[in-house]
Amino acid sequence: MSIDSVLERVDRETGASLEQLKEYLRIPSVSTDPAYAGEIRRCAGFVRERLETAGLEAEIIETAGHPLVYGEWLGAPGRPTVLFYGHYDVQPVDPLDEWRNDPFEPTIETGERGDQIVARGATDDKGQSFTHIKAVEALMAETGSLPVNVKFLVEGEEECGGEAIEAYVRSPAAERLACDLALVSDTSMYGPGQPSVLYGLKGLLYTEVRVRGAARDLHSGTFGGAVANPLNALGTMLAALRDPEDGRILIPGFYDDVQPLGVGERAAFAALPFDETKYGDEIGATALWGEAGYTTLERVWARPTCDVNGMWGGYQGPGAKTVIANHAGAKVSMRLVPDQEPERLFRAFAEYMRSMAPPGIDVEVENLNGAPPVLVDLQGPLVDAALEGIREAWGREPVRVREGGSIPIVSTLSEVLGAPVLLVGFGLSDDRLHAPNEKMDLANFYQGIRTVVRVLDRLGGCAVDGFSPGA
Ligand code: BES
Ligand code: MN
Ligand code: MN
Repeated sequence: MSIDSVLERVDRETGASLEQLKEYLRIPSVSTDPAYAGEIRRCAGFVRERLETAGLEAEIIETAGHPLVYGEWLGAPGRPTVLFYGHYDVQPVDPLDEWRNDPFEPTIETGERGDQIVARGATDDKGQSFTHIKAVEALMAETGSLPVNVKFLVEGEEECGGEAIEAYVRSPAAERLACDLALVSDTSMYGPGQPSVLYGLKGLLYTEVRVRGAARDLHSGTFGGAVANPLNALGTMLAALRDPEDGRILIPGFYDDVQPLGVGERAAFAALPFDETKYGDEIGATALWGEAGYTTLERVWARPTCDVNGMWGGYQGPGAKTVIANHAGAKVSMRLVPDQEPERLFRAFAEYMRSMAPPGIDVEVENLNGAPPVLVDLQGPLVDAALEGIREAWGREPVRVREGGSIPIVSTLSEVLGAPVLLVGFGLSDDRLHAPNEKMDLANFYQGIRTVVRVLDRLGGCAVDGFSPGA
């Protein structure tokens, strides 16, 4: 077979691919909101159908939460087995009034770099992971088979903690996921036209802190001064999370398990083109600030962080209300790096918060979700072959980068599969993921399909000793 004829087919069929992506994006598969459970199910059905149309055997796997979709084609004995991971769920759309169009009615707009598709999930992760299915479909349609064995695992809970997939991957049933290489497209490229392979993702610890004082709200004159104010107490506790001067996190033991940045890695980060002013301008920040002693890239990619994501309590209406509210709360999350453990840090964090409670203030700390950090080892003949395919597709050397985001299942996949996990994203940092008017550049969608075709083609040139774990 000739790879060129497959790529020509991809190019000929961009119109149909786009229509199918639109259909996918029209399904409001918001995983965190139970009101969308029916849509989640419909979306899983859509993915299953697309896998079947591509020529795979596919099924829905029921879980305690949202369903998983699994598909496979194992007709290439002696060749490697590739496991594709993606997620079909999306983030909620709020604030809805900031969208230019209905978030679930994909619209084509012309951006700086050409046409882009605007919709919730456009880049995270429907557009990106759909490239896997379309690449397999084009190879199959053009050649009647595939150069490698393929498996797909597409989940519906990535944006809300991913407990179902975690349980599945750790269950005996997951033997069927055995593979030589896993491929994930759910991240961004370092810049337009710059193919990028990630070797590190941060972990996450997401908590909620609730403080309670008196049994009811109090007049702030009649009772003020006599009791601790829950809002003042919470403010003090949150302020104690970071040193205001050097930005270091003050939770006792927080840095104990942090792998220090090596000289080589710092040099590699520093060698990447990075413009602080442009970075700030793009997000509309007038200044950058973070942990002293580290560059912006080091802070975002390789140093742990702690941020208040929301807080509430007391009077927030117009005008003044003299009151001491009886409760207050905050969402506090920490992004973790190897070898920090979410569970251990949760205990340290909860203990630290409780230790600061003044008399009469009750503090509750809840662990909402967590994900371990991960560093993957990008080595071996299969990784090299895949990188060659990426290089060919873009005509440029892929850069090796890390990211501050998390994909909870990646660390488990990497541990359980014992195979390299290649994180090859086709998004860009201006895709507005999780925000209003999320988009994906159409050029990257199509180029993503071509990249996956070339990667599979290259991997097909690799023999696997004796047997492939899956085939
Ligand atoms: N695809 C993102 C993660 C991501 C984005 C990694 C860009 C690297 C670059 C993923 O869908 C995501 O949003 N993850 C959440 C995980 C959380 C909800 C457990 C995150 O990072 O906040
Ligand atoms: Mn994602
Ligand atoms: Mn996301």
